[in-house]
Amino acid sequence: MRVLVTGAAGFIASHIADVLVGRGDEVVVLDDLSNGVVTNIPEGAAFIEGDVRDPAAVDRAFTALAGPIEGVCHLAGQASTFKSFDEPAWDMDVNGVGTARMLEGARRHGAKTFLYASSMTAYGHPERLPVTEDQRCAPVSYYGITKWAAEQAVLISSKPEAMNLKAACFRMFNVYGPRQSLTNPYQGVLGIFLGNVLRDEPIRIFGDGEQSRDFVYVGDVAAAWVAALDGPPDEAAALNIGTATQTSINELWRAAVTACGRDPETYPVSYEETRPGDQRHMRANIDKACATIGWEPQVSFAEGMKRTADWARGAV
Ligand SMILES: NC(=O)c1ccc[n+]([C@@H]2O[C@H](COP(=O)([O-])OP(=O)(O)OC[C@H]3O[C@@H](n4cnc5c(N)ncnc54)[C@H](O)[C@@H]3O)[C@@H](O)[C@H]2O)c1
Repeated sequence: MRVLVTGAAGFIASHIADVLVGRGDEVVVLDDLSNGVVTNIPEGAAFIEGDVRDPAAVDRAFTALAGPIEGVCHLAGQASTFKSFDEPAWDMDVNGVGTARMLEGARRHGAKTFLYASSMTAYGHPERLPVTEDQRCAPVSYYGITKWAAEQAVLISSKPEAMNLKAACFRMFNVYGPRQSLTNPYQGVLGIFLGNVLRDEPIRIFGDGEQSRDFVYVGDVAAAWVAALDGPPDEAAALNIGTATQTSINELWRAAVTACGRDPETYPVSYEETRPGDQRHMRANIDKACATIGWEPQVSFAEGMKRTADWARGAV
C-alpha cells in the first residue's frame, strides 16, 4: 500500500511509519520538523519537509511516490494541552486548518482512507468511566476543542456527499514509549519524569498527583493504526485507543523512579498548582476498537515501563 504519514519525525507517527516500511509498504512522510527529528523517520521512507497547512507541501507529499497515495495517517500537529493555553490561535491553526488542508489534499489526489490522531481530551470530564465513544464530548482545553473539531471534520468527510473517505479517528489516551521526548516539559508526562530522574532533577507534579490516566504503549497504538489502514471500519468512527486501565500520576512517578533504579521514598518531588485543562480521571472503554478493527493492546504497563526506561537510559 502507498501511505502518507504526517508527523513521522515525531513520536507516535514514527512508530507507525516503522511498521509500514518494515512490512514493505511504500511510505512518504510529511513533517515540518517543528517538534520532530529526521532520525526518527525510518530509512526507506520518502521525506517531504513541509507544513501540513501549506497546500503546495501537501501536494508534494501526495505525489512523492511512484503512484497515487491510498491511505493517509494524519498525526502532524501541536500535541500539548498546556501549550494550547499559551497560543490558542496557533493551536487552532495547526490542528484545525492543518487537518482541513490534509483532507483537501486527500480529495485532490483521490486517497481512499484517512486516519486521524484525535485525543481523549475531546471528552473533557467524562460522566462515567470507562468512557465510551458515545458519551458527550465537552473538551476543557483549546487543544481538546481542536482535536475534537478536526475529528468531526474527518468524520464528515467520510460521507458520500462529501469526500466519501473511509475514515477512523483515534481518540488516543496517554501514549508512552521509546522516542517520546525526555526534554519537552509540555508533552508526555512519562517522558518528562524519566528525563527528570535520569538527569537527577526533582519531579514536579501539578495538582495532588491523584489524577489518573490510561497509559497505552506506542507499539500497541501503531498496531491499531495499521489494522485500520488494512481494514477501515465500514462506517467511519471515532475509536478509543487505551488499555481500559487507570494509573494515577503518583503511581506513575513512583514506577518511573523505580524503573531507573532509584528509591521513590527518598526521591525529591514537589506538588504545585493544577494547570488549566487538566482532566481528573480517565480510563478508556476499548470495546469498539476491538469490535471494528480487531485491535487489542498487548503490552502491560510493567513491560511498557521497562522498555521505555531501558530506551531512555540510552537516549538521555
Ligand atoms: N502523545 C500522546 O499521548 C497523544 C495522545 C492523543 C493524541 N495525540 C496526537 O497524536 C499526534 C502525534 O503526537 P506525538 O506525541 O507523536 O507528538 P510529536 O510532537 O512527537 O509529533 C508531532 C509531529 O508533527 C510535526 N508537526 C507539527 N506541526 C506540523 C505542521 N504544521 N506541519 C507538519 N508537521 C508538523 C512535528 O514536527 C512532529 O514531528 C498529535 O496530533 C497529537 O495531538 C498524541
